Amino acid sequence: MEDNSKYTILTIDDESYIRQSIKSYLEDYGFIVFEAENGKKGIEVFDAQSPDLVLLDLRMPEMDGLKVLEVLKARDPDIPLVVASGTGNITSVVEALRLGANDYILKPIEDMTVLYHSIQKCLKESQLKKENKAYQEQLEELVKERTRALRQSEQSYKAVFECSGTAAIILEADGTISMVNSKFTELAGMERREIEGKKNWVEFVAVKDIDVIRNHIRVRKHLDSGQDTPMQYEVQFFDKEGNIKYVYASIGSIPGTDRQVVSLLDITEKKWAEKRWQSLEKQLRKSQKMEAIGTLAGGIAHDLNNILSPILGYSDMIMRTSDPEGSLYQKSEKIQKAALRAADLVSQVLSFNRGGATEKRLIRLHPVAREVVKLLRGSIPSTIRIIDRIDRNCRSVYADPTQIHQVIMNLCTNAYHAMEETGGELIVGLEQKILSRTEMMEYPNLSRGEGGYIMLEVSDTGCGMAEDVVERIFDPYFTTKEEGKGTGLGLATVYSIVQSCGGDIRVKSRYGKGACFTVLLPAVHGEEGIEKKDIDPGRHMAGRGERLLVVDDDPDIALMCKEGFKMIGYHVDVFFSSTEALAFFRENHGGIDLVVTDQTMPEITGIELAKSMLKIKNDVPIILCSGYTGGIHKTMVKKAGIKRFVMKPVTVESLSREIQLLLKKSSQSAV
Ligand SMILES: Nc1ncnc2c1ncn2[C@@H]1O[C@H](COP(=O)(O)OP(=O)(O)OP(=O)(O)O)[C@@H](O)[C@H]1O
Ligand SMILES: [Mg+2]
Repeated sequence: MEDNSKYTILTIDDESYIRQSIKSYLEDYGFIVFEAENGKKGIEVFDAQSPDLVLLDLRMPEMDGLKVLEVLKARDPDIPLVVASGTGNITSVVEALRLGANDYILKPIEDMTVLYHSIQKCLKESQLKKENKAYQEQLEELVKERTRALRQSEQSYKAVFECSGTAAIILEADGTISMVNSKFTELAGMERREIEGKKNWVEFVAVKDIDVIRNHIRVRKHLDSGQDTPMQYEVQFFDKEGNIKYVYASIGSIPGTDRQVVSLLDITEKKWAEKRWQSLEKQLRKSQKMEAIGTLAGGIAHDLNNILSPILGYSDMIMRTSDPEGSLYQKSEKIQKAALRAADLVSQVLSFNRGGATEKRLIRLHPVAREVVKLLRGSIPSTIRIIDRIDRNCRSVYADPTQIHQVIMNLCTNAYHAMEETGGELIVGLEQKILSRTEMMEYPNLSRGEGGYIMLEVSDTGCGMAEDVVERIFDPYFTTKEEGKGTGLGLATVYSIVQSCGGDIRVKSRYGKGACFTVLLPAVHGEEGIEKKDIDPGRHMAGRGERLLVVDDDPDIALMCKEGFKMIGYHVDVFFSSTEALAFFRENHGGIDLVVTDQTMPEITGIELAKSMLKIKNDVPIILCSGYTGGIHKTMVKKAGIKRFVMKPVTVESLSREIQLLLKKSSQSAV
């Protein structure tokens, strides 16, 4: 028998014998039974005992069973309720069932087991309902809990997405950006609402990178996303204004979807720093190379100058003593011309070596630039239009005017060559400029920092240069010109002159699109103009028997001087050894009017010799000659008391001009 002791049943019936029989019957089965003789009482007992089931008679005086049913169902809609009714009252039964009764039995109850089964069935149903309800409630609670957890995890993911420190986006299958974080809005320079659901990732990426990324996304989609670790790509990114930025893009699939998450790390600053570093490294390598070539070239130039001096000197002498119409004269003239061209070359090499005899002083650039423009106007074809954008009010720079002339001339000649066949425009610009810190980045060689500079710009509309040519143009001996037309020293010289003035040069050019060279030189306060060159245009070559002492360890040069000076009226003593010369001077200094000495000699150098001679005779004018200025400073020469310093190769003509000037000065001071 089942254990019914846990169930309580309320029976409401106005007939007491029926109640009694039901009670005793059910109690026999172990139920706990409460009774009520009318509806009102029944409701009270219901409230007090909360039974598990109610047996309700439908026909009762005072309160009708259907009414009681309504009240009880209102109190507990789930209470199992079995109604009892006589056979003549079947419509009430139907109504009771409609109002929520669970079962009915007919009175008189002939077979109590019917009642028992009905009660059992209703209790079971009720039990099941209760369990079901509890289960449902539990389920609902579980769903609520899960939803809460899901919401929390979504918030965490959103926080990670938002605060990861890199720009991040979520891509839909068609490439539309469905979500961005605020770092991405910063990177793109756009509002969130302008991007989400509206933009496709391809709109932000450089064309050359699109296919790479597209392939990568495709590959990732077919990989097992669980084992998938995102890879990085360097991508060129464009913001709203079209500015280029560099980013590392990491792409990953979102498991179980066909969406991708892309994170972008902005490396623009790093990239620029790398570029600046590379350019500095390149500059350093270039200047080291130039330095090495310069030293080598300087040495060769020194020897060459010594060789050229007698060639020039003797051809000069032959021409002086021969008939200008004769073939000897003309041949000598050809020798002289060739030697002068060679001397020019040597002087180019020397100035590129920074060793040229420079005379730096405060100068204004505009007169030099104008002179070059004037010169060019007269010599280049009219198919090339020269545009003068020279500002006449620029401050001065500290430089050698001859070298600056060379810089502008070289740049303009190159421009002219670039337009020789096609014609075009050659623009020479000069202006004062204050460089900002960012602009300074483009000129890593500037020795001074931010501040005032004089900017010289020579641009043309000629053939331009390919990138690999631009890379090499400042290299000595690099030329694209046919043999005999270019030596490839022009820009190397320009580069080295500009460097020696603490400036820098930059070129912008594209093949077929012309070229623009920009030279920046530090501006200096001071209003000195270009000094007028102290050149006496007259040919004062005739000596008046003055006595010269010539010292050079190279006998060819020494003898050439002897012959040449004699020819124009001087009395000359020549020595190949500085010690011998000094000994001679010690004995004969009274009669010696001027000394010409070489610098590089064994035993005593020219400077040392001069010092010793000046100790003996403090007003003797001395001219120092050298084929190489490496190691010789203007101040050193001045300090030694030497009156002139002359670069080799020397000719009798050039030296005699210097001699004349000095002799004139010393005779004036003697008066
Ligand atoms: N304005 C320019 N347009 C196009 N190419 C140029 C320009 N300036 C220079 N170049 C290129 O740079 C090369 C080197 O120039 P650089 O002045 O050093 O030597 P060069 O002109 O060839 O010879 P030179 O020693 O006679 O000046 C040139 O051969 C030419 O290819
Ligand atoms: Mg050139």
